[in-house]
Amino acid sequence: MSGDLANSVNKLDIKENSVTNHNNDGGDDDQVDPWNVVSQADTGVDYEKLIKRFGSSKIDEELLARFEKVTGKPVHHLLRRGFFFSHRDMHSILTRYENGKPFYLYTGRGPSSSSMHLGHLIPFTLCKWLQDVFSCPLVIQLTDDEKTLWKDLKVEQAYQMALENAKDIIACGFDINKTFIFSDFTYIGQRSEFYRNMIRIQKCVTFNQVKGIFGFDDSSVIGKIAFPAVQATPALSTSFPDIFGDKKVPCLIPCAIDQDPYFRMTRDVCPRIGFDKPALLHSKFFPALQGAKTKMSSSEANSTIFMNDTPKQLKNKINKHAFSGGQATVEEHRKLGGNCDLDISYQYLRFFLEDDEKLEQIKKDYTSGALLTGELKKILIETLTPVLTQHQQNRSKITDDTLKTFMTPRKLC
Ligand code: TRP
Repeated sequence: MSGDLANSVNKLDIKENSVTNHNNDGGDDDQVDPWNVVSQADTGVDYEKLIKRFGSSKIDEELLARFEKVTGKPVHHLLRRGFFFSHRDMHSILTRYENGKPFYLYTGRGPSSSSMHLGHLIPFTLCKWLQDVFSCPLVIQLTDDEKTLWKDLKVEQAYQMALENAKDIIACGFDINKTFIFSDFTYIGQRSEFYRNMIRIQKCVTFNQVKGIFGFDDSSVIGKIAFPAVQATPALSTSFPDIFGDKKVPCLIPCAIDQDPYFRMTRDVCPRIGFDKPALLHSKFFPALQGAKTKMSSSEANSTIFMNDTPKQLKNKINKHAFSGGQATVEEHRKLGGNCDLDISYQYLRFFLEDDEKLEQIKKDYTSGALLTGELKKILIETLTPVLTQHQQNRSKITDDTLKTFMTPRKLC
């Protein structure tokens, strides 16, 4: 077996009986898979190690420089600051762009809560920027089917959440002429081309392989076992005949690194059924308020800032829960200074404060002890409040008609 599946499958060969331990090489590695993210260190996941383990490539200075040269624009701060840190085949996408050849963007979201949180914003923020810079079509999969299978949710509930999430996504500012958002429950029944591609993929992957990649076992419901093909299918352009007709157009998938197992599988299958492998841009996780050991999660209200939180809720959550890298007393803090690597307020500012100089000054002042934890939290609150209010305003303006248009299979520009 060659290609992207090789890593996982070799692992399966070696550890045939430990499929549930699918993502842990036995040692003290961080756990990173589509369902769990737990790091060993307080500073969060060791991403360098992850690149090696997953066999992806680092987003280095050379790639960023090429990005800027090819697009003629400064790279987005999420790229510049290394939140998107790993990729597969990004150079081929840039070469296509240079040669005026088409490609599209594909990303997605599993609707498991009716409001999205700050962490969910990250891949969509980059997607919006990529869509503007490359002026290319974007398809967004809402996996209401996945969430029904994995969570304690009924079909109808997951579908409703998909619609609610679609509004949060539209509020990020996507171009209605270049974006198709679809719920699996609705779209898969609408276009037989999607279902046919799904079956082409399902025909290429054995139970043994998905066991090795995803840790399924004999008691996993069969819907879960088949699901990876559903998430793989949007990487085949012909699944969207309204947009691409029967043309084979390659895609670029921005996603959090925990989604990589799906796309390792996709990349292994694609050449076998006559498609290009999708390219990928991987992001780090958005840390929970309590610290970088876990990612922000909808099921932990205290660790999470929801996009529909009020300014007061936002303020309280940060003041109460945001893990501080500061010292226990003001005197000690003035003397010893704070630790920005551990401090969640500082870490969040790296995502949301675009001004490099300001950010650098904050880092200096906090590290030296000149800036206190309370003051740092205040800066974060002042930075995030307009992000939330703007988002809520954008969202409240979305009409049913707009939502319907985004979610209707149609030709894009
Ligand atoms: N499985 C993802 C989630 O739970 C949703 C998803 C579907 C996705 N397709 C994707 C994420 C493509 C990133 C890229 O959130």
